[in-house]
Amino acid sequence: MRAVHVGATDGHPLSIRELPDPVVGDDELLIDVAAAGVNRADLLQRRGRYPPPPGSSEVLGLEIAGRVREIGSAVAGWSEGDPAMALLAGGGYAETVAVPAAHALPIPENLDPIEAAAVPEAFLTAAHTLRLLAPVGDGDRLLVHAAGSGVGTAAVQMGRALGARVCGTIRTAAKADRVRLLGAEPVVVGADRDFADRARAALGGGATVVFDLVGASYWPQTLATLDEDGTVSVVGLMGGARIELDLAALMRRRARVVAATLRPLPHDRKASLVDDFRRWGLPRIASGELRPVVDRVLPLDRAEEAHRVVEANETVGKLVLRIGQL
Ligand SMILES: NC(=O)c1ccc[n+]([C@@H]2O[C@H](COP(=O)([O-])OP(=O)(O)OC[C@H]3O[C@@H](n4cnc5c(N)ncnc54)[C@H](OP(=O)(O)O)[C@@H]3O)[C@@H](O)[C@H]2O)c1
Repeated sequence: MRAVHVGATDGHPLSIRELPDPVVGDDELLIDVAAAGVNRADLLQRRGRYPPPPGSSEVLGLEIAGRVREIGSAVAGWSEGDPAMALLAGGGYAETVAVPAAHALPIPENLDPIEAAAVPEAFLTAAHTLRLLAPVGDGDRLLVHAAGSGVGTAAVQMGRALGARVCGTIRTAAKADRVRLLGAEPVVVGADRDFADRARAALGGGATVVFDLVGASYWPQTLATLDEDGTVSVVGLMGGARIELDLAALMRRRARVVAATLRPLPHDRKASLVDDFRRWGLPRIASGELRPVVDRVLPLDRAEEAHRVVEANETVGKLVLRIGQL
């Protein structure tokens, strides 16, 4: 199979190599990949700063959509040729992947494979927080940082679908209309990073949950936006990881801080998350209430350009690599 290789060749950090097809395990599906989503984590992994968990593919790529080619002997409920999308610990920038069947989902009929490849990482990351770690419901006020990111666009829509009022921070004013259309009141954060008053006004009160994709650089204002008894869920660290934390400020608000990253989540917990999304999220995708946001599509052999575009913060939603037959 063709797969993206990391390592400078003729000055290019990403190039295409031939690799052997993966072999399907008993509890796995072998999927012919039509499309793969690009994630910030891929950019980090490429630089050696986000290594794959032990035993996972070294090839980049955390999510794909395609068709089932082979089914492991212990797997039920799938047939050859079924359209499938899946969350991976690695290996997505390739023509074929083997994935635990418990981490795969059927593709609703209203999505093409490009759109389906934009679902798993963004929506399951959002679901991990908004359904499980800091569950959001009617009457909640949700602040989503980096609301125009792939994960942010999913979190905004999920927050709305769960009944919350949603406000989303962005730095690029040109993204405001698209964030508003997804269901969040946009707040543009300038160089002073002073957003708490505007976010509270947009939410009609303090945030009961903050879906935090930025971390350190926004932390003082994140805390100033948080309501009493509120929860900050740390999901991304685009603004850095290290802060000086005033614990008294957390105590005064009776605040909770939770934090999680999906990739190293143990197999069974990932399977439960996928199963919850199968029941709660897939019908909402099928009805159009939740929609993956695809900013643009590039072929696999332009993965390097794809990384440049993502790194330049040009996208709203996801960039997807086209790989095989759609
Ligand atoms: N915990 C997990 O399991 C998990 C899973 C997936 C992703 N993540 C994390 O979630 C974050 C978003 O990932 P993604 O793939 O959705 O990203 P993405 O689509 O590339 O979007 C990132 C957006 O964030 C904004 N941004 C960039 N640097 C920023 C900074 N220093 N401060 C504030 N905003 C900044 C930019 O938008 P503006 O132009 O509006 O500033 C950029 O377009 C990443 O940190 C990623 O590692 C975590």
